[in-house]
Amino acid sequence: MKVTSTEFIKSAFEEGHWPRDVRPEIAFLGRSNVGKSSLMNSLLGVKGLARTSSTPGRTQALNFFLINKRFRFVDLPGYGYARVPKNIRATWGEMATDFLAKRLELVLSIQIVDSRHEPTTQDLQLHDWLQHHAKPSLIVATKSDKLSNNELRKNFERLRKTLNTESLIAYSAVTGRGREEVWRTIEKAIED
Ligand code: GTP
Ligand code: MG
Repeated sequence: MKVTSTEFIKSAFEEGHWPRDVRPEIAFLGRSNVGKSSLMNSLLGVKGLARTSSTPGRTQALNFFLINKRFRFVDLPGYGYARVPKNIRATWGEMATDFLAKRLELVLSIQIVDSRHEPTTQDLQLHDWLQHHAKPSLIVATKSDKLSNNELRKNFERLRKTLNTESLIAYSAVTGRGREEVWRTIEKAIED
């Protein structure tokens, strides 16, 4: 995919703020600090579009980006960040699942996991939820640059088994590993 334009549209804190014009959307989901924003920036070849931070749990809205004036990336709030106050935690869980369940424009959900670790309980719950609701999804195992080839092969195989999916790509926002493969999946989802 040749990225010719990227544009931040808005942060939405409630359903009434979701964009109304019809365009296919790709959602990015995952634990706080797993590397969602970095994945988006690396796919788009830009540095600071989707804000990356070393303070987890910062992104608490749905953030919409317009790509090539044709489709949207949606950065969903990260889950599993314990230090977020309880009432906020409840709202963002609700906000994210509400969006996933209702949004007609959604053509692909990209769930990001850490290639170094076993999936967390919440990773597994979200994965099950997506499968149960028959949502087209892709798992991206990021931060693969932090592993040796041997470790990566081992962890990748373990993830494939635990998540019971073939729709899994090893990624690195640092080296760009997996970038073309992820784009191919996105392109296919947009065209279908
Ligand atoms: P929240 O929005 O706060 O939930 O975080 P996020 O999931 O958007 O993660 P973010 O992209 O902000 O990345 C978190 C940290 O991980 C940052 O310090 C990134 O530089 C680092 N990081 C992300 N992806 C990679 C990667 O592929 N390799 C390495 N080495 N570091 C990464
Ligand atoms: Mg982020």
